[in-house]
Amino acid sequence: MPQRVELRELVKIFPAPGGSGVRAVDGVNLTIQPGEMVTFLGPSGCGKTTTLRMVAGFEMPSSGQIFIGNEDVSTKAPNERDTAMVFQSYALFPHMTVEENVGYGLRFRKVSKAEAAERVQRIMDLVGLKGLGKRAPGQLSGGQQQRVALARALVVEPQVLLFDEPLSNLDAKLREYMREEIRRVQQELGITAIYVTHDQSEAMALSDRIVVMNAGRIEQVGSPQEIYLRPATRFVADFIGKVNFLPCKVLRRENGSAVVESFGRQITVHDAPKIDGEASLVVRPEAMFLEKEAGIPVSVVSRVYLGSAMEYRVKLPNGDEVTVYQSNPNLAEVFEVGQEAFLKLDSHAVHLLPN
Ligand SMILES: Nc1ncnc2c1ncn2[C@@H]1O[C@H](COP(=O)(O)OP(=O)(O)O)[C@@H](O)[C@H]1O
Ligand SMILES: [Mg+2]
Repeated sequence: MPQRVELRELVKIFPAPGGSGVRAVDGVNLTIQPGEMVTFLGPSGCGKTTTLRMVAGFEMPSSGQIFIGNEDVSTKAPNERDTAMVFQSYALFPHMTVEENVGYGLRFRKVSKAEAAERVQRIMDLVGLKGLGKRAPGQLSGGQQQRVALARALVVEPQVLLFDEPLSNLDAKLREYMREEIRRVQQELGITAIYVTHDQSEAMALSDRIVVMNAGRIEQVGSPQEIYLRPATRFVADFIGKVNFLPCKVLRRENGSAVVESFGRQITVHDAPKIDGEASLVVRPEAMFLEKEAGIPVSVVSRVYLGSAMEYRVKLPNGDEVTVYQSNPNLAEVFEVGQEAFLKLDSHAVHLLPN
């Protein structure tokens, strides 16, 4: 049965030379629903792995609590919790076959030999390892080895599945493929999962919700769309893909919207946070368009052809530079470096943050 996971005021302080200690996790509150896949996303050292290890029981919290279902597991040993973890290093046993690796966790559970064999086969089919059971891990590719690690975690039918950057050792193409596989398997089994990564596109592709962490704290929790289009802080906006900040002034509010002025042009920001006076418009590169007339006057500083898009750097009237993507540049009219142009914003994809 998938279970809810709840983190309450979770803190982890590691002893450090000098005596003050490192607050690796600094007051994390979060509820993960049964069957939900939540990703912890943030830069290296922000406390993702430490949080995950506390859920697994490999680290004890300095304070706070962890609940799985209705049970407080905060001080329980790893084998007393119904969790399973998939690591970046596959951590397979080299002298065992693939089947033996996958079935390893069942040795310690009350499962008959026949049932174990049946479950191993079923999980191997599910993760795409059919027919590879008799091989040694060394005879598999990196992607196949990671599937074995995934199968080994799944076969024990844990209440919570934990992933710590499991795809970091794979090349880019395989990483994209495997993240879809992981998502498919997680959804097919309806299992509660916590996934840790520093890769924003991985987080976007995999998650029901993303938890953006910074220095041991949660900056924002939201769906991939919310995090991308409505970042709560500059840190989140910056961490999730490319972003531009345009200076603006809030003129008035209308219902939930704000009418702002930027470089003499008015734009309505829907669902705007309550901010007065000087502020920043948050605009993704694909939510801006270069036109021949009517808009913010800019000049093209540079451009890079990316195949599916043209990436421009353009200079605003105040001298700041921003990034603009023009999709499908093979069909569109392109602008030359040095050329004057006009910038328009997609009002459905702009957001407002305080300065
Ligand atoms: N066992 C440990 N002893 C001391 N400090 C640690 C230990 N594990 C992690 N840290 C520190 O805690 C902070 C968070 O680390 P970690 O959770 O591994 O971050 P992330 O997984 O987000 O990269 C870092 O400053 C790291 O150096
Ligand atoms: Mg880590």
